[in-house]
Amino acid sequence: MIIDTHCHLDSSRYDKDIDKVLEGAVTKGVEKFIIPGADPRDLDRAIELSERDDIYFAVGVHPYHIDDWSREIFDKVSHKKCIAIGECGLDYFRLPEDETEKEQNIAEQKDVFRKQIRLAKELKKPLIVHIRDASEDAKKILLEEGADEVGGVLHCYNADRTLLELADHNFYFGIGGVVTFKNARRLVEVLPLIPKDKLLVETDAPYLTPHPHRGERNEPLFTTFVVEKMAKILNLSYDDVSKITTENSLKLFKL
Ligand code: NI
Repeated sequence: MIIDTHCHLDSSRYDKDIDKVLEGAVTKGVEKFIIPGADPRDLDRAIELSERDDIYFAVGVHPYHIDDWSREIFDKVSHKKCIAIGECGLDYFRLPEDETEKEQNIAEQKDVFRKQIRLAKELKKPLIVHIRDASEDAKKILLEEGADEVGGVLHCYNADRTLLELADHNFYFGIGGVVTFKNARRLVEVLPLIPKDKLLVETDAPYLTPHPHRGERNEPLFTTFVVEKMAKILNLSYDDVSKITTENSLKLFKL
């Protein structure tokens, strides 16, 4: 069994064929799905999808959606299929050009990130953390806020040695389609350094589609390419990687 720990199935890009997408995944052994919170407007759709036994969701405000922050969104956390807080985190990849606006945006991102870590601790749920071009600041905040108390997954495309330290603080690493890219040198180097009991598999579907499907819409079925590539890099079998990452997901998210 494979668990796709990060797929945006609430995206309108699946409106027409969600049943087919899920069926295709299940046929290939991808048997559980976690929908992270990103845009609060999609939350109702995520909750609706979680009526299926194999779908879970998280509630969170992605760094691109900090303007939509409200405490009320988190009322949905009491739902029995809500298993985490996030995506939350820092993204310095897309910042305003104007210096003042840039500083203000970073300050707001940090504030919304800290608030979600505190909520996760209060609600005793693990975190789904989005980090892009902000490893140092994100690590600092996670450690300062004592996020290890709940732990979570680092959903990171630019795998960074800086973040490895967080493996000792109850954080897991979500490995996705980037590992299959021809230019994924950094992630390929870092992957063997991550403790095996801290590895998870994810797609970030509909984004970041793995090779050989780059350019197409991503879907949970494509975790199979990620597992295949991880197995090759780690010198393990496909079944070993599926088994290890599934056990890790079950443990972290208490599925
Ligand atoms: Ni995502």
